[in-house]
Amino acid sequence: MTSLKNRQIQLANRPEGKPQTSDFELVGADVPELKDGEILIQTLFLSVDPGMRNMMKDKESYTSPFGLHEVLTGRSVGKVIESKNKNFEKGDAVFERLGWQDYSVSNGEATKKIDIDIAPASAYLGVLGVPGLVAYFGLTEIAPPEKGETVVVSGASGAVGMNAGQIAKIKGCRVVGIAGSDEKNRYLTEELGFDEAINYKTTKDMKAALEKVCPDGIDIYFDNVGGEITDAALQLINYHARVVVSGQTSQYNEENPDQGPRFLNQLVTKSAMIKGFVVYDYEDKNDEAIEQMAKWIQEGKLKYKENIVEGLENSPQAFIDLFESKSFGKQVVKVSE
Ligand SMILES: NC(=O)c1ccc[n+]([C@@H]2O[C@H](COP(=O)([O-])OP(=O)(O)OC[C@H]3O[C@@H](n4cnc5c(N)ncnc54)[C@H](OP(=O)(O)O)[C@@H]3O)[C@@H](O)[C@H]2O)c1
Repeated sequence: MTSLKNRQIQLANRPEGKPQTSDFELVGADVPELKDGEILIQTLFLSVDPGMRNMMKDKESYTSPFGLHEVLTGRSVGKVIESKNKNFEKGDAVFERLGWQDYSVSNGEATKKIDIDIAPASAYLGVLGVPGLVAYFGLTEIAPPEKGETVVVSGASGAVGMNAGQIAKIKGCRVVGIAGSDEKNRYLTEELGFDEAINYKTTKDMKAALEKVCPDGIDIYFDNVGGEITDAALQLINYHARVVVSGQTSQYNEENPDQGPRFLNQLVTKSAMIKGFVVYDYEDKNDEAIEQMAKWIQEGKLKYKENIVEGLENSPQAFIDLFESKSFGKQVVKVSE
């Protein structure tokens, strides 16, 4: 055991409905001595992701559920502070799924070095990390847009949605974003170049609002949130439309998903396609995707926005904020300098 003081965020209870801070606990923990082949990583930033809510349920998803009274794990970037692994040196900046804790020991097998000359370390949790890749693969592998098509993005002020909308703009599309405040929507249109943005919280008739800003219908619907927004968008899809299902944030706090209209006939009559995916489906293309995203950033075509919350102890609240429209852009927690 080293003399380092470690702190962990553990899952205290399985949340019912919206998570509460009382569902989490901050506990002290040891840092074990390194064995041969291992590295010691100090966490710099950790990512809070809506999808983690699914893993708090006692149900198998595409990953196993979090254990009660065990450290939560999620995508993180850190700095190697000690190495007994020939592939890593002290000082390397790395990405891995680490614990929500100050220090983690890893065997290095799933640890990836990151280049912080291209972008700051936190960007590897956002635009150059999973949210960026989800947007990129959704619009390259599943539904490559054609110039002039209309693309609607739900959850547009979030990490995935901002990237998806901007990639669709780069491809020459008309882009409509849906987000939960006028301030967020102004950012989408004025800073990121979205053509239109709809505030779903103040819009009573989402179908009518979408009809107004999509006079030629919807060719691609990039869905991050599901629920009633999606019910409305699906009524407006065009012949040969593609629906990309990245996530269903509006459903994650429900024990049973709410029952919406049955829309499959709409797919038949419009010869349309709907496809869900997890980012790992395209893992072999990660390097190519990150290279392209980095190039777009350097060319000034792709902007990114981060909301940085200070302190490991504030990670639970940072996570809860994702379900209360309080995050804006990629929400990350800064754990150490
Ligand atoms: N398929 C994959 O491999 C993969 C990987 C990563 C993420 N995802 C999924 O992609 C989706 C977006 O992720 P992200 O990282 O972009 O999320 P994010 O940045 O954390 O987005 C959070 C935003 O979602 C919006 N939101 C929260 N609850 C909502 C509700 N009930 N209805 C509508 N909007 C709501 C809020 O903004 P406003 O309410 O203000 O608009 C909130 O600020 C999530 O569903 C996530 O699980 C999928």
